[in-house]
Amino acid sequence: MASFNLLLLPGDGIGPEVANEVKKVTAFLGSAGIAKFETETDLVGGAAFDAHGVAITDDAMARAQAADAVLFGAVGGPKWADVPYHARPEAGLLRLRKDMQLFANLRPAVCYPALADASSLKREIVEGLDILIVRELTGGVYFGEPKEIVTLENGEKRAVDTQVYTTHEIERIARVAFDLAKVRRKKVTSSEKHNVMRSGVLWKEVVTRVGKTEYPDIELEHHLADACGMQLVRWPKQYDVIVCDNLFGDMLSDVAAMLTGSLGMLPSASLGAPDAKTGKRKALYEPVHGSAPDIAGKGLANPIAMIGSFAMALRYSCGLTEAADLVDKAIADVLATGIRTRDIAPKGVNAVGTTEMGDAIVSALKRLT
Ligand code: IPM
Ligand code: MN
Repeated sequence: MASFNLLLLPGDGIGPEVANEVKKVTAFLGSAGIAKFETETDLVGGAAFDAHGVAITDDAMARAQAADAVLFGAVGGPKWADVPYHARPEAGLLRLRKDMQLFANLRPAVCYPALADASSLKREIVEGLDILIVRELTGGVYFGEPKEIVTLENGEKRAVDTQVYTTHEIERIARVAFDLAKVRRKKVTSSEKHNVMRSGVLWKEVVTRVGKTEYPDIELEHHLADACGMQLVRWPKQYDVIVCDNLFGDMLSDVAAMLTGSLGMLPSASLGAPDAKTGKRKALYEPVHGSAPDIAGKGLANPIAMIGSFAMALRYSCGLTEAADLVDKAIADVLATGIRTRDIAPKGVNAVGTTEMGDAIVSALKRLT
């Protein structure tokens, strides 16, 4: 039986609760003889700050680099509002992304038929939706230098963030998007703001060239990022794969998430380049939702985005396509039977808690195997 090393970084807020449900799924896959998972656990975010004074330790970083896949819960919360900027909980996640060079963030937004009414948009607009946002994750304004607040001679302050992209950074994320579109509906929409940003001009130029020369069979269109946000809520089914920079991807993926009914539904994968020798990619998987401090510790959180993120790990890090399909099918089946956590429950329907949802998914897995 194939065996994989996972590093679990539950983090803060609802992170530990949803991460716990993934353990049930890995245990099931082991007992069913599908694959074995050796799981280590470490701290990240506010939890790491409380224990070690940093958002992630060098030791945890080394374990992340060595793992077949990192499963990340969520970080942050009001408790850490006043910690120094460099040690804020989010710094742990940003260090993981940057040091592991996870430049490609895949955020699929799929609307399960059973959930079309949970969306704030009309059923006909979201039913059957299946789009994929490919977000550049290690460049742009998140990491560009200078990034500072300086005090001017007149005592006023000046804050600077720098949006910066080089040709190869745009080429490699464009290729990820085109490659994924090949096995989908063969359409890529590139989103930037070339009408006001020089980085947008280069982005559009490079994506156009890569499309023309390397992927002539994939349809390519360009939507300005503001218009793309508008079109996502007007008629999202026009899209297949959307490729964009770090900041626009952050915003557009939250919009796309809500189309599916709840932020609690959306998984994501962050991938590095394939290793020249082994072909393996460094990878981190995380739900798109945050730490949700308002419901943390209450057993109310929806574990589907976290379990769906583990399904992505099965697909992209373990090469276990069938097992990934199985987990996705179990999630869909549970939703089809009407079981709902609070975030996706219609009025009048009794919602289950985090552990019940996890158990229901494991029961569905047992039925399916
Ligand atoms: C996300 C989050 C992060 C980001 C935060 C927590 C730093 O919003 O993964 O979308 O802005 O990238
Ligand atoms: Mn975000």
